[in-house]
Amino acid sequence: MPWLRHLALLLAAGCAFGSPTAHAGVLSARADDTESNSDASEPVGTHATSPPFYPSPWMDGSGAWGEAYEKAQDFVRQLTLLEKVNLTTGVGWEGEGCVGNVGTIPRLGFKSLCMQDSPLGVRLADYVSAFPAGGTVAASWDRDLWYRRGFAMGMEHRLKGVDVQLGPVVGPLGRAPEGGRNWEGFSPDPVLSGIAVAATVKGIQDAGVIACTKHYILNEQEHFRQAPEAIGYGYNITESVSSNVDDVTLHELYLWPFADAIRAGTGSIMCSYNQVNNSYSCQNSHLLNGILKGELGFQGFVMSDWQAQHSGVSSALAGLDMTMPGDTLFLTGRSFWGANLTLAVLNGTVPEWRLDDMATRIMAAYFFVGRDKIDVPVNFNSWTQDTFGYEHAAASEDYTQVNWHVDVRAGHGHAIREMAADSIVLLKNSNGALPLTGEEQLTAVFGADADANPYGPNGCPNRGCDNGTLAMGWGSGTANFPYLVTPLTAIQNVVLRNYASVESVTDNWATSQIATLARRASVALVFVDADSGEGFISIDGNEGDRNNLTIWRGGEQLVQNVSALCNNTIVVIHSVGPVLLSSFYDSPNVTAILWAGLPGEQSGNSLVDVLYGAVNPSGKLPFTFGINREDYGADLLYTPNNGNAAPQQDFTEGTLIDYRYFEAKNITPVYPFGHGLSYTTFEYSDLDITVTGAGAYVPTSGLTAPAPTLGNASNSSFEDYVFPTDFHQVPLYIYPWLNGSDAADASDDPSYGADASTYLPPNAQNGSAQARVRGSGAPGGHPALWDVLAEVRFTVTNTGDRGGAEVAQVYLAGPSGEVRVLRGFEKVSLGPGGNTEVVVPLTRRDLSRWDGGVGDWVLVSGSRGVWVGGGLGDLRLSGGVDVGGGS
Ligand code: NOJ
Repeated sequence: MPWLRHLALLLAAGCAFGSPTAHAGVLSARADDTESNSDASEPVGTHATSPPFYPSPWMDGSGAWGEAYEKAQDFVRQLTLLEKVNLTTGVGWEGEGCVGNVGTIPRLGFKSLCMQDSPLGVRLADYVSAFPAGGTVAASWDRDLWYRRGFAMGMEHRLKGVDVQLGPVVGPLGRAPEGGRNWEGFSPDPVLSGIAVAATVKGIQDAGVIACTKHYILNEQEHFRQAPEAIGYGYNITESVSSNVDDVTLHELYLWPFADAIRAGTGSIMCSYNQVNNSYSCQNSHLLNGILKGELGFQGFVMSDWQAQHSGVSSALAGLDMTMPGDTLFLTGRSFWGANLTLAVLNGTVPEWRLDDMATRIMAAYFFVGRDKIDVPVNFNSWTQDTFGYEHAAASEDYTQVNWHVDVRAGHGHAIREMAADSIVLLKNSNGALPLTGEEQLTAVFGADADANPYGPNGCPNRGCDNGTLAMGWGSGTANFPYLVTPLTAIQNVVLRNYASVESVTDNWATSQIATLARRASVALVFVDADSGEGFISIDGNEGDRNNLTIWRGGEQLVQNVSALCNNTIVVIHSVGPVLLSSFYDSPNVTAILWAGLPGEQSGNSLVDVLYGAVNPSGKLPFTFGINREDYGADLLYTPNNGNAAPQQDFTEGTLIDYRYFEAKNITPVYPFGHGLSYTTFEYSDLDITVTGAGAYVPTSGLTAPAPTLGNASNSSFEDYVFPTDFHQVPLYIYPWLNGSDAADASDDPSYGADASTYLPPNAQNGSAQARVRGSGAPGGHPALWDVLAEVRFTVTNTGDRGGAEVAQVYLAGPSGEVRVLRGFEKVSLGPGGNTEVVVPLTRRDLSRWDGGVGDWVLVSGSRGVWVGGGLGDLRLSGGVDVGGGS
């Protein structure tokens, strides 16, 4: 009975995951509906549960969203039930040209919304730019650069016809350095990440494209993120990993940058693959309803990661607004939503106000960034770069022109070169080794990482290999290189301008040729790398995550082989994060070390700008280089630890990740967080900390308005929603129509029609006025959290003879000896001898701690240490601040 297909699919999909499943008629309770762990302040561990939060908060147009909200409501009021469902449900994997598309509203001439990766450029398209990765530009500590990068990426998406750019990333935050996708995000420090993500969101959205900040939340490792993927690697598990975390750690660390993204207006948030406290992120009512939409007042829409939805009704009631790519698993032709959402609204299981809220949120984001004023059709195709291809690739249907090869780069290459150069961190520079003059008699270049990938810059799909120079990690967080300027090419260009000599050996294992050249070199530049990426690709046994922190392709040995014979060896590291440097960093023959991250298309050019002094390096480490892997404390889970049920990853280290752990345990790093040298020197003076008189904090109270009703579809009959006659259904495509009008029969659910109160979480359908969440008030949280309670002032002077930029950082400790944490920074450019006063504000949030018992931020009383300097290892000034306690 083919008509059963759409309506009965929930059961089948649930079996595929082996997980309890929400049916259109029957909702199985999941961990997010359990009552245990009701005190959210309790520390959690293995088998932690997540408290329920219902109903799902409806959008209210708060903050800057008023106009967009009204426009969205006006739009949604015109829609039929089917049209609303179409806005929420993807058409299925490879159903249209973008990595994700929802259905259309032909009656209103509304085209399908296009969602496209990635956080560093337009993925799977030609004539686009390949920007430096998030974790690389984090090292610039430059708000303006982050904004410009966001804007440029947004413009490229806009000109390709993309509605939603699937980035930026702040989850993973970078709990452990081995995490495969850390480089897509910014930094394991939440303040640095928060400022970077806010600037990026603003940039993307000012270009008229909706930013999708992802992956919400605690998506800190690739291993076991999805059971089917893990099974493919031979692990016997049936559920995704559960990241088990306490409320304080969640708020003070992982949620922090998401709050900043929401405050900056991100139109969309992607929920992640993993579970949090044993409830899937895309149906975790505490996280989506309670925190995101309640406490943080998020006004946009929550989109699932691809195949991260595990239920129909549960996810709808728990706060999911859009399912991507729409099918349960790629190419099943079945959906948890689509027809099932239509049915669930018609039979009253999902209240219509909830569907209205989903559609309103989606459309509000659309109006918020001005997409109603932009008319660029999708002019590329993710599944082919040929000019012609299938409009519906999954079904191989409708062969037509799918790619117009629109060049959207608009000269961004120049800015990319600058951005990557400004993000290079000079870790070591002894004997004035750098900058080079270009007149060195013989420049010797070593390492496969200096040269081109023999397969071409895009020769490995999704950058899934470590060949040639590393300028991007692997996975969906990628874009095609329009070209890739290798370090070797760029160095040759400089050297040849001076008619000097340059030779290279780019086979890391050609030991005799390496020795012969190293012996003769005036300067030896050795290129090494370490790669990682998304879990669907494994390289050399690294299943997305790195297996260790060592340098790849024999790089350590290469440095040793060269530096043993050349006393002016300069090491350049292209890596996704920290690598172990112990075997060479303090060797006197290694005169300089640079971390160049993942620089994107202008890799070589940006590097020579720093090597030869056209750019004075100003990057500072956004993470710590430790001596040993163990020095980082937190590590990933590589082996399932819960039978074939969900692996349990307990975040027992709390907030002590990266430098916080080093500080707490008094572990000396190789290069500390915030470290970075310049070709000039800076002095700090005149520290002055003042407490300002901000008003008292008044917790939010009172009631919301009731859920607005924008339609009355639940009064209509099932017959009105069956597929139109003579309608051609594209195979595997997800539609909103029912396959038959007998719902009970069609649902293929023996308990269809059961009393909803017996299986729905209490309050899930309640559209009446609700108590406001205490710490809420505006997008991002209570507005008073951004009251400035103190100001840290000091003077920075350039004491050298070159212009340069310094990132002045402010760290704050707790009154009871808690570790110092970054609370603010300012990047200042100064000519030789120049000085400037820097003012770093400290907000209520900066000076508070999350109190799980109160369920709010509470000011920390007592005197707190304040440190100012050019990095955690270079703190120059110190003082104290006391802003009084209580809330
Ligand atoms: C899965 C990835 O986790 C996500 O980041 C990406 O946006 C989607 N795939 C779409 O490619």
